[in-house]
Amino acid sequence: MQATETFQISVDEAGLQLAADGSLRHLLTLKGLEKTLLIELLDEAQRFLTPFGAIPARSRSLEGRTVANLFFEPSTRTRASFDLAAKRLGADVLNLDVNTSSRKKGESILDMIYTLQAMHVDIMVVRDASASVPAHIARNVNEYVSILNAGEADISHPTQGLLDLLTIRQHKGRFEGLTVAIVGDIAHSRVVRSTAHGLNTLGVGELRLVSPAALAPDPDELPFALLTDNIDDGIRGADVVMALRIQRERMDSLEGIPGMDEYFANYGVSAKRLELAAPDAIVMHPGPMNRGIEIESSLADSPASVITQQVTNGVAVRMAVLERVGKTMAAT
Ligand code: NCD
Repeated sequence: MQATETFQISVDEAGLQLAADGSLRHLLTLKGLEKTLLIELLDEAQRFLTPFGAIPARSRSLEGRTVANLFFEPSTRTRASFDLAAKRLGADVLNLDVNTSSRKKGESILDMIYTLQAMHVDIMVVRDASASVPAHIARNVNEYVSILNAGEADISHPTQGLLDLLTIRQHKGRFEGLTVAIVGDIAHSRVVRSTAHGLNTLGVGELRLVSPAALAPDPDELPFALLTDNIDDGIRGADVVMALRIQRERMDSLEGIPGMDEYFANYGVSAKRLELAAPDAIVMHPGPMNRGIEIESSLADSPASVITQQVTNGVAVRMAVLERVGKTMAAT
C-alpha cells in the first residue's frame, strides 16, 4: 500500500454491494447479506460441483466478459480458484503480476483500476492487506464494473466464508442447532469474521471462538459468539472444528503468543482433542496449514478432515458469485 493512500472506512458495505433492485453487484462482506441470498449462492455453487473424473462443470455465462485478478498479498487457493472459476464460466481472465505493476511505482490503486476499466475489464477480484480497499474501489468504479473481495486485511474474506458454509451444509445438512468451534488466531483472521457472520445469518446454534488471550478478538466485535481460551471447553460436543493459522504477517510482536511446541500442546487441533467433539465432527482449515502447530498433521489427512473438499468448494462458490454479478451486470 502506498503511504499516501487513505481509504474511507465504509459504514454500509452491505448496502454498497447491492444494485438498486437488490441484486448482487459487488461482493465485499457477508455481514448484513440477506439469508435468502446466502442460501441461493450456496445452492448455485452446489450445482457447479461434479464428481472427480468427470469434466468440471462449465457454463458460458461470462463469455465475452473480462475478469482481472489483482492480488496485492500472497495467495494460492483463492487466486487459483478465482482464475479457474472465471475460465470455467467462459470469461477472459487477466492475472496481473502486481509485483511488476505500476502500483509499485507509486500509481494509486484507483488510477490502476481506471486503467483496467478503460480496457473493458468487467470484474475485478481484489486482495489487499489494507482495510476498506475493496469498498473504496467499489465506490469509485463505473456502474458496469463489479468488485469481488478476495481477502481484505483482517476484516473480510467473503468467498472463503461461503465455501466454509457450503462445506458445513454438505456434511451437516443444517445450521440450526449446530455447534461450530473455530480455534486459533481469531484476532487476525479475516476468514473467521466472514464465516462467523455467515453462520450467524444462517442461524447456527452455537459459535465458539477459541484462542490464547493474545489472539482473542475484541469481545464486542462478534457479540453472537462465545469466546474462550480453553480449547477443551471450546471443542467439547462441537459438530465442526476449524483450525486457523497464526497470522504472523499481521503482528508487530509475538508477545504473549506461546512458542510453537507450547502452542500445539495448548491450542493444536489433534485427534486426541477431537475425541471431545461430537462423534461425527468434521475438521476444517482454510489453508495454508502449518502442520504440527495449529493442526496435527495426521488429523489433517484423516477421514474427519474436509480440508480438500473446502478447496473444491472454493471453485464452485467463486463460480456462483461470478455468475451472479455477471447477471446483475447484464441487467444494468
Ligand atoms: C486465508 C487468508 O488468506 O485469509 N487463506 C485463504 O484464503 N484460504 C487464511 C490464511 O492465510 O491463513
